Amino acid sequence: MKKALFILSFVSFFVSTASAAAYTKITPGENWLDTDGNFINAHGGCVLYENGYYYLFGENRTVFYSNGISCYKSADLYNWKKLPLAYTVQGVQREDLQDAAPGRLFERPKVMYNKSTGKYVMYTHWEDGNNYSYARVAVFYSDKIEGPYTFYKTYRPNGHDSRDQTTFLDEDGKAYHFCATNMNTDINVALLNEDYLDPSLSETLILNGRSMEAPAITRVGDTYFGIFSGCTGWTPNAVRSAMSGSILGAWTELTNPAIDAKSSTTYDSQSNYILKVNGKENAYVYMGDRWNSHDPGSSKYVWLPLNFRSGYPFINWYDSWDLSIFDNMYRYKRAKSIVAGNTYALLARISNRLFSRDGSNFVVSVDDDDTKNLQFVFEATSTSNLYKLKEVKSGNYLEGGTGGLALNAKNTNITQEWTFSKQANNYYYITNRSRNQALSVDGSSVSNGAGVVLQVKASSMNQLFGVYFDSKSFEYEEDNFFKNTPSTVSSIESVKQDKPGVVIFPSMNNGDFQIRLTNRTGNNPINLKMFDLNGMKVYETIISGDESSSTIQLSNILAKGMYIVNAKSKDFSVNQKFIVK
Ligand code: GAL
Repeated sequence: MKKALFILSFVSFFVSTASAAAYTKITPGENWLDTDGNFINAHGGCVLYENGYYYLFGENRTVFYSNGISCYKSADLYNWKKLPLAYTVQGVQREDLQDAAPGRLFERPKVMYNKSTGKYVMYTHWEDGNNYSYARVAVFYSDKIEGPYTFYKTYRPNGHDSRDQTTFLDEDGKAYHFCATNMNTDINVALLNEDYLDPSLSETLILNGRSMEAPAITRVGDTYFGIFSGCTGWTPNAVRSAMSGSILGAWTELTNPAIDAKSSTTYDSQSNYILKVNGKENAYVYMGDRWNSHDPGSSKYVWLPLNFRSGYPFINWYDSWDLSIFDNMYRYKRAKSIVAGNTYALLARISNRLFSRDGSNFVVSVDDDDTKNLQFVFEATSTSNLYKLKEVKSGNYLEGGTGGLALNAKNTNITQEWTFSKQANNYYYITNRSRNQALSVDGSSVSNGAGVVLQVKASSMNQLFGVYFDSKSFEYEEDNFFKNTPSTVSSIESVKQDKPGVVIFPSMNNGDFQIRLTNRTGNNPINLKMFDLNGMKVYETIISGDESSSTIQLSNILAKGMYIVNAKSKDFSVNQKFIVK
């Protein structure tokens, strides 16, 4: 009898889902209805995947009032069936603040499954219902993913004020709590105890003084990424991002991942979670709220694909999209190294867009526009790292003449020769041999269609390009940068410099560190190689002949330890040891 009932309800779930299966795509910012036709009320939320279903949790609010925590279920991420509230406010308000009662406020619920206890644990931001001054978390647990959840307690994690918050469950089963603290100036990361119910004493303050909130954390390969907002209440601002090779270590702030129109308001949204799509490689979704400041309960949702192709997070705007977007997202893959004779595309670090031609203009443009995206055969010259770039469709060569960039028939001028100077994370400065000018995205614009021009080499981000190949046509060796990324380096100490004339010295800059080569002698290119103590080469670049000094950014590529740098040219060869701490 019980079994029959179970089967019946199972079948009816499918039938009701199927009959109302109206959606085949995600439409950011539109009215999202559940399978019963009601507005989805699940704000500041998170999504978990289990046994073929996604579960959406979020703030269930009537205007400002918290009813508790919603739970919706979906097989496809488009059609959501409403389940009973995962937690319904209950009990009475207590003076010791140990309640989850009517009138209290619960924001940004985050749920994790604890394999060792078999319990689902939920964290929310907790306030007393009058203002935002209590800055506590409320913790709940349940035996079933959809609840009902049992209230455990409220507290300030290790005494820290904790407003916007999230949790992150790592692959090794360790769980972390992230919160905006010190009146929203810093983010505190705390490793949770094994039962996930309380923080341990392992914690660290990150992104100090950056005033970030709305944290959302994910892991891609071995690298952790964080998406945050600035602190402007319900009003949207420009999304922030950061990365780290060690979750409790230093985090390096990155650029604004939003690159289309309305990037300064994150397409009118504030982050709440990063969802990993089941069954697709490196498929992540930015989840945000488009808050209605007069009625948070009727706020809408902005979900957009997150693109990590460049090694960094980027978020494009789509009026609507579906999961097939991920099938092409990684079509262009980073080449492990440049191999002469191979065909490559160039990807702008600053905007994750491909070097392209639009009419007669050189631009960066949205990808998979095969009519515009440029691909080049890299032809070797007698100098390593110096190539002629033969554009595949026209058979002409990229030339940096006095009139700027052009595609011309092959000639013997050095204006058709390009030096690829390797930088951190396998990006390159591409300078024209006849002048100290580099391919540059004009005005550091991140827009689609921004011009690509030749500008004096300034070692700035708009001059960094990745060398990518079209995996539809080629099977080159891929730079699996997600796998071997880095512990973020927080300090570096130089040990010994064995010869004057060339000075290699470290300097800290925004969490990056640099090795700088100054006072160089001679005018010959310098080959710079870095080895670890096992003699493994970890980095190599060429400093071209006409540079009097060069700055090489090495953030995020080195593990802690001792290294030796060898700088060699026709005139000299010097070594220097240094320690990355
Ligand atoms: C935002 C926060 C929201 C909500 C709101 C209230 O900064 O991210 O979760 O707390 O403030 O003003």
